[in-house]
Amino acid sequence: MADLQLPSYLVQSETVKARFDELKRRDVILEVSELGKTFESANGPVTALEGVNFRVHRREFVTVIGPSGCGKSTLIRVLAGLEAATTGEVLLAGHPVDTPGPDRGMVFQGYTLFPWLTVKKNVMFGLRNQGLGDADASRDALQWIQLVGLEKFADVYPDELSGGMKQRVAIARALAAKPRILLMDEPFGALDAQTRSKMQSYLLEIWRHIDTTVLFITHDLDEAIYLADRILVLDANPGRVNEVIEVPVPRPRSPAQFLQPEFLSARQRLDELIHPPSATEEAAGLDLSRFVGSGEKTDAQD
Ligand SMILES: Nc1ncnc2c1ncn2[C@@H]1O[C@H](COP(=O)(O)OP(=O)(O)O)[C@@H](O)[C@H]1O
Ligand SMILES: [Mg+2]
Repeated sequence: MADLQLPSYLVQSETVKARFDELKRRDVILEVSELGKTFESANGPVTALEGVNFRVHRREFVTVIGPSGCGKSTLIRVLAGLEAATTGEVLLAGHPVDTPGPDRGMVFQGYTLFPWLTVKKNVMFGLRNQGLGDADASRDALQWIQLVGLEKFADVYPDELSGGMKQRVAIARALAAKPRILLMDEPFGALDAQTRSKMQSYLLEIWRHIDTTVLFITHDLDEAIYLADRILVLDANPGRVNEVIEVPVPRPRSPAQFLQPEFLSARQRLDELIHPPSATEEAAGLDLSRFVGSGEKTDAQD
């Protein structure tokens, strides 16, 4: 890719620029200020996050990317109210977050459906918790199930569904409670590449139809670009926001855009940030002679 003459990822077409101008005029839904999180462990304190600052606007789709262990899951757990921040503040629609609440929908990588409930009853669960009666909850649940394209499976139990279908039910269940923000932690991480790519398009299509804000964690560079308005790139040790990238790819998105110059320019920038040259140097410095035998050439060498 180094040989390709790409435009800078900072270059935006008129349409893309106009979209960002409009987006930035919207209300701020989520405001994270000077957020820090330190865990006490047997080996002493571990600072997972330090001085994290960012804002997310209404109906914005933000992805978060960074190396393994940089604090992505910790961040989302603090936003969910499952973990208390050590320092700083999280405001959701102006209210401090310190406990879980129905204003936040969660979808994780592991399948979290209740195996003893049908698809419809899983989606109804959150609605019933909000005080809806059986008939209303059933009607609402069916609408959400339809939105994720699973109406034929409403009365089926989770173990009869594929991984992708289970995650579509999890998304329907999270959205049914009408959260202000959907928090997703590598929700497609366990799926095969083809299913994963379909799920990305499904999610974008669902998001286009409803008024919700999404914060989506991934370690897949293409997924981060394909879905996002903006990408937060986290650094490790301690986790902090290294860069915020405005994705220069127009919407609506389609997989055909993966090879377009705007997409590739964002891809190149993410590559530089996530795989800095020092990582390659470190890898080149590994002494592997014990394993390969001295002077022996393998097919992979060039
Ligand atoms: N409950 C915990 N106790 C101690 N350390 C933790 C705990 N949860 C996470 N950590 C540490 O915090 C850092 C960030 O972890 P995590 O948020 O899971 O990263 P990521 O999701 O980016 O891979 C890691 O060093 C991890 O070991
Ligand atoms: Mg994680």
